[in-house]
Amino acid sequence: MAPTSIPDDSTPAETPAPYGTGPTAAAPTPGKPGGRVRTHHLQQFKNQGQKFAMLTAYEQYSAEIFDAAGIEVLLVGDSASNNVFGNETSLPVTVDELLPLCRAVSRSANRALVVADLPFGSYEVSPQQGIATGVRFLKEGRAHAVKIEGGAFYAETVRAMVQAGVPVMAHIGFTPQSEHVLGGYRVQGRGEDADRLIADAVALADAGAFAVLMEMVPQATAAAVDAAVGVPTVGIGAGNATTGQVLVWQDMVGLRGGKMAKFVKQYADIRSTLHSAAQEFSAEVKSGTFPGPEHSF
Ligand code: KIV
Repeated sequence: MAPTSIPDDSTPAETPAPYGTGPTAAAPTPGKPGGRVRTHHLQQFKNQGQKFAMLTAYEQYSAEIFDAAGIEVLLVGDSASNNVFGNETSLPVTVDELLPLCRAVSRSANRALVVADLPFGSYEVSPQQGIATGVRFLKEGRAHAVKIEGGAFYAETVRAMVQAGVPVMAHIGFTPQSEHVLGGYRVQGRGEDADRLIADAVALADAGAFAVLMEMVPQATAAAVDAAVGVPTVGIGAGNATTGQVLVWQDMVGLRGGKMAKFVKQYADIRSTLHSAAQEFSAEVKSGTFPGPEHSF
């Protein structure tokens, strides 16, 4: 994907803007030193009708590569549970497992805004629990913002976290942490349910969420949500009316095997490339052609 074309950011914002309002500097240019994409840049993208790109990242090299490629937002997703730690779902992953991944991504990305998922069980109990976990991700994980799943019920949690200094991206629609309540991976916000989704998004944005992410939502519903909230929206399986789009990186480059969700587009076939490389290495080791003289001292 070509990086979004964005103006130079040599002039910093005069006044730090509250999320989504006030004077804004242009987002930093990929490849140029200096500057970090901030939440107000995402707001600026929405205001100016521009799009931004977001990918998951869980370690150093993918973070470095995506950052250099101009991806505006890196998500240290709780999808690390099933893309790094070998679990079947996102439910088992813990704060202590995600924090080191988050630190690695933050250390490796010079430009991208790093958003960390708060894992299942780490914010649901109370706004205070949300603040405590959010602070850990900013302090120990060096994230710049966090993401939590759930609708209007979490508006008070979002409000409390933002007041405590933790920027929050809201995640609505299909929320994988609630898959057992939702009855599996199912599209949300169809028909009359669209009104509930819009109300959720409005409540979360009013509470101070700097963006609303929607997963597996009909394009028309996502467009209605985007029109109803002032903040930027991000889609995954939500059509193209949102300000940003996000994919899990192992899906995007074809590293993960198995059946892909309808909303995934594969931009590479890294799984085959790695498989062939490993087979070739193995064959050369067994035939004695590796290491050759050029790899020996
Ligand atoms: O954890 C994750 O990868 C996510 C995306 C599906 C948005 O939350």
